[in-house]
Amino acid sequence: MNSPQKDANGRDYFVVQGAGTERATVYLQGAHVTHWETASGLKPIYLSPTAVFADGKALRGGVPICWPQFSDMGKYKQAHGVARNRVWSLIGSGKGDALFRLVVGPDDPELPGIHADLIFGLACVGDELDLALTVCNAGVDTLEFTTALHTYFSVSDITKLQISGGLDEARWADNLQNRRVFDPAPIHNIDKEVDRIYFDVKNPVLLHDGSTQISIQGHDLPDAVLWNPWIEKTKKMSDLPDDGYQKFVCVEHGKIQSPVVLGPKEKWTGRQHITCRNL
Ligand code: BG6
Repeated sequence: MNSPQKDANGRDYFVVQGAGTERATVYLQGAHVTHWETASGLKPIYLSPTAVFADGKALRGGVPICWPQFSDMGKYKQAHGVARNRVWSLIGSGKGDALFRLVVGPDDPELPGIHADLIFGLACVGDELDLALTVCNAGVDTLEFTTALHTYFSVSDITKLQISGGLDEARWADNLQNRRVFDPAPIHNIDKEVDRIYFDVKNPVLLHDGSTQISIQGHDLPDAVLWNPWIEKTKKMSDLPDDGYQKFVCVEHGKIQSPVVLGPKEKWTGRQHITCRNL
């Protein structure tokens, strides 16, 4: 097994090298995917050029892991949970894959009542990336959580991005209107702030950016968040340049509408599978 490396600031990261030129970079803090390059040389993941690499701070961009709650949808203080801020361990790696582990509890002041064993697995093969979060309830009580893989996708120009597929047929809640729920209404372009939770998304979400198509499918992560902060909210985010909103959209597969409920020793896995190709 290869070892993690240190960046110029002494922060640990691991490069998952595929059989060909495909590769992904994962920082141990948060088991946070920061880069992915496909075998065709495409780089579909966005990382903010002003992301802050610091202890206990989640990176802006890449793939933050939201656990044990998505946003404020749970009983914990921290929006999107603590997993994205904690330091994970590398526990295995092979050609094109790696496994990271985080154990929390049983006496964690930020997570009262939780004792859990988390494994994050990444596999990159050719033009495909598979991200899998497994949670095992290591405690004696029932464990309940919401979660999401909060993936930031690079786009060359948000106003030219075309969205199709799975979101078209799904009911959704608008985070900008107190989570009011709407019937399916296709959204094919983004031209303002968007912050929506789509429920029970069955088919892949497709992003068309010029000649590039990204296909994103959840497995046992039935919900999907579509997020772009647009102009005003971006200005308030110190870790995103003012024009940063033009360069990404988040498609975050999660288990949000209803929580995962695990009895003692029970296990759950949710996955996001991404394919990126030139058409
Ligand atoms: C999205 C939420 O998942 O994450 C948004 O739906 C939120 O409401 C966004 O603004 C970013 O969250 P954070 O905590 O990374 O700034």
